[in-house]
Amino acid sequence: MPSIPIDALKPGMVAAQDVTTPDGRVILRQEGVVEPWHIQLFTGLQIQTVDVVGDDASQQVEEAAAYVQAFFAYVNPDSLPMGELYAYVVELVANRMAEGWQLPSLAERRAENVEHLVDVFPMEIVEPQRIVDHETEVASFPDIYIKLREEVESPKASVQSLSALVSQDISLAAKLLKLVNSPLYGFPSTVDSIERAISIVGIRELSTLAMGITAINYFQGIPPELIDMRTFWRHSIACGIFAKILARHLGEKEVERFFIAGLLHDVGRLVLFKKMPYASTEALIYARNNFVPIVEAERSVFGFTHTDVSSHLLAQWKFPQHLSELINFHHDPMAAPTPRLATVVHVADVFADALRIAGGNMYLLPQFYDAAWDLLGLPTSAVKRAMSEFEIEGEQTTQALF
Ligand SMILES: [Fe+2]
Ligand SMILES: [Fe+2]
Repeated sequence: MPSIPIDALKPGMVAAQDVTTPDGRVILRQEGVVEPWHIQLFTGLQIQTVDVVGDDASQQVEEAAAYVQAFFAYVNPDSLPMGELYAYVVELVANRMAEGWQLPSLAERRAENVEHLVDVFPMEIVEPQRIVDHETEVASFPDIYIKLREEVESPKASVQSLSALVSQDISLAAKLLKLVNSPLYGFPSTVDSIERAISIVGIRELSTLAMGITAINYFQGIPPELIDMRTFWRHSIACGIFAKILARHLGEKEVERFFIAGLLHDVGRLVLFKKMPYASTEALIYARNNFVPIVEAERSVFGFTHTDVSSHLLAQWKFPQHLSELINFHHDPMAAPTPRLATVVHVADVFADALRIAGGNMYLLPQFYDAAWDLLGLPTSAVKRAMSEFEIEGEQTTQALF
């Protein structure tokens, strides 16, 4: 008897048992056929699931629900926003199954060919500070980043000085233009010059964007056996887009910093992959085999997590405090100096991860803090609203950054 999330409930399905209001009144009798108005009523009453008599379609939804549920193991099952997110993802997975997508088998979930990788540090002496020091000693950060950072901090920065700086780096300039022309900005006419982009987006905002893109470029050349960089950046970009969408919902000013913080939120993982490729892979395998989120697996394998690494890294890079805070606390927003702002990236990360479940991602959602969500003061319906905005803006914005 499949238990169907309310979002996946369709007219014509047959109730397997009475559906009642919280005070016990029967709204739909056992064996009654679901009508469109039932679905509206159930939604209004916040009924989350309905048991229906099995047929092919509901069978598929049931399989999807069981599959998705496993990824939500670290999430509070009574959380309203997570209930909404869960229903959305179940429907997504069921739709993909209807199109012919096969749920990944256990055998497909294993990482392979990692034996030749060598860690820079023996596991016994590994600690975040050492890893970061080593990284910043062997590779210097691009010159343009430092100049951009100065621009962000300088009160004298001008449209001309910033545009001259950005234009020195052709690929950076091209990416910025593509991004500004993506649906995430929704400008009615094409923005065809950096100067115009700066005058529309703002000096500080565009410098932040340029800095973020430069930081991404720094991490090229990580062995493909370790981590599929496309998948990694897709997730990071999705997190950035969700962070910006949520910041918009909140009426925040300077939404660009949320976008960039989202884009770079897992930057600590990249350093771990560079310095500790073998142990990083071990952490991934640990996460899969033990059904825990990656961040928990890191804690078990390394004794610390990628946010401990990013704290040191971003301090070394002299990253602006208002940005690094959003990144360093994305798994623990209530501990941040400004919990409400850190929550934006925290929620965005979980949203972005949830969407990946329908794309065959094998890792559990990280822990979600309901108390942090409450700080935002957003209604539960904001989850679905963010999802539909992402459906419109997500893909093209992602394309712009590749
Ligand atoms: Fe993370
Ligand atoms: Fe993440």
